[in-house]
Amino acid sequence: MKVSVIGQGYVGLTISAFAGEFYEVIGFDNNQKIVDQLNQGVSHIEGVESALLKKWIKAGNYRATTNGSDISDSDIVVIAVPTPLTKDRKPDLTFIDAACKTVGENLNQSALIINESTSFPGTIRDYIKPAIEKYSGGKFEHLYAISPERVDPGRGDYNQKNTPRLYAGLTPGASAKTKEFYSKFCDQLVEVSSPEVAEAAKLFENTFRQVNIALVNEFAQIANALGISVYETLDAANTKPYGFMKFTPSAGVGGHCIPVDPTYLAAVAEERGVPATFIKRANEVNLEMSKYVVDRVQADNGGTLQGKSVLVVGVAYKPNVADVRETAAELVIEHLRARGAVVSWHDDVVGIWHGEKSADLSGADISVVITKHDVVDAKAIMASAPYVFDTTGKLPQAHGL
Ligand SMILES: NC(=O)c1ccc[n+]([C@@H]2O[C@H](COP(=O)([O-])OP(=O)(O)OC[C@H]3O[C@@H](n4cnc5c(N)ncnc54)[C@H](O)[C@@H]3O)[C@@H](O)[C@H]2O)c1
Repeated sequence: MKVSVIGQGYVGLTISAFAGEFYEVIGFDNNQKIVDQLNQGVSHIEGVESALLKKWIKAGNYRATTNGSDISDSDIVVIAVPTPLTKDRKPDLTFIDAACKTVGENLNQSALIINESTSFPGTIRDYIKPAIEKYSGGKFEHLYAISPERVDPGRGDYNQKNTPRLYAGLTPGASAKTKEFYSKFCDQLVEVSSPEVAEAAKLFENTFRQVNIALVNEFAQIANALGISVYETLDAANTKPYGFMKFTPSAGVGGHCIPVDPTYLAAVAEERGVPATFIKRANEVNLEMSKYVVDRVQADNGGTLQGKSVLVVGVAYKPNVADVRETAAELVIEHLRARGAVVSWHDDVVGIWHGEKSADLSGADISVVITKHDVVDAKAIMASAPYVFDTTGKLPQAHGL
């Protein structure tokens, strides 16, 4: 059984690594550098071990390629490409369209096509299927299904195997084949009645997180105004054994999912005349946190940041990964620079960002901690500047939210 995975990023490479134990996997990506690296058995994704990749390469079960014709005899094609927002914050299906073109123009037999990219309800039925038919000239009758990815890069306790996976085919035959495919490396498969339910569930999962993060970020501001500790208050609320789930405040939300996916849901809601005001407000509150953080730092430092050296510690969007997509550090740095601060950043997990190298963790007037990786010593952060503001809740001696 030959499986082609379109896109070899966080989602695509993760699925390739798990599928490699049972299937011959072709990892198609249009980035030659990534493909070359993967063919040498070097993983660029946290959670996918290079040793595992090398094992599948040696066994003839994994090969990366930029050549579309390599997917021609696939039995299954998994699409795992980016689904970002356009400049005016609308769903951007350009990458999905390009993936459909690759599949439509190259696939030379009937196959099962599964989308794992996150998108709005109706994407597989109304967008991917027609696009592949357009690019292939309708030569083959394919099966179509959706199975949204739930990978949390860098997480140790939940992975492809033990995270329940939703799925639904456009037809019962597609559903059955999808179940057969994933059941090799996923313990629990949950079938839902339509692809639209699976697509909407994925968006709602991340919207739930976005809204709750916004709520706790707003509450952090209220707690500070009340002169009480937000962390102690949250711990107190969390002693309730039911009806409460603890979220922690931060400088904002980052990554490819939480700041983006809710906007996909809001877009389809508005198309159907439902004003998604709650989702939009949550997004605004999270984006405004960066300004709130810088306001607090400025107030604590004599009301001005002009000429002060500020070190932003941790620019990845979350701990222990090198991913900087949509990181809150970006907005914090913008606000700091707009107020005349001389800003550098330290994050040796990320290493290089916007062409700049991670600075030393020392010698600043002010340090602002956005993300605390496990490998970074808390004492070293506290020694990096006479004033340290922590947005992570991991440095109790620092000033903080
Ligand atoms: N990262 C996560 O934690 C996560 C979790 C669940 C779902 N998702 C969703 O999965 C999808 C993929 O996200 P990701 O994090 O893996 O993205 P990514 O940026 O890590 O990887 C995408 C890969 O696709 C490649 N690519 C882009 N266009 C291509 C094309 N036309 N043909 C072939 N390859 C192409 C890129 O070079 C890149 O290697 C998105 O819809 C995202 O919302 C991501």
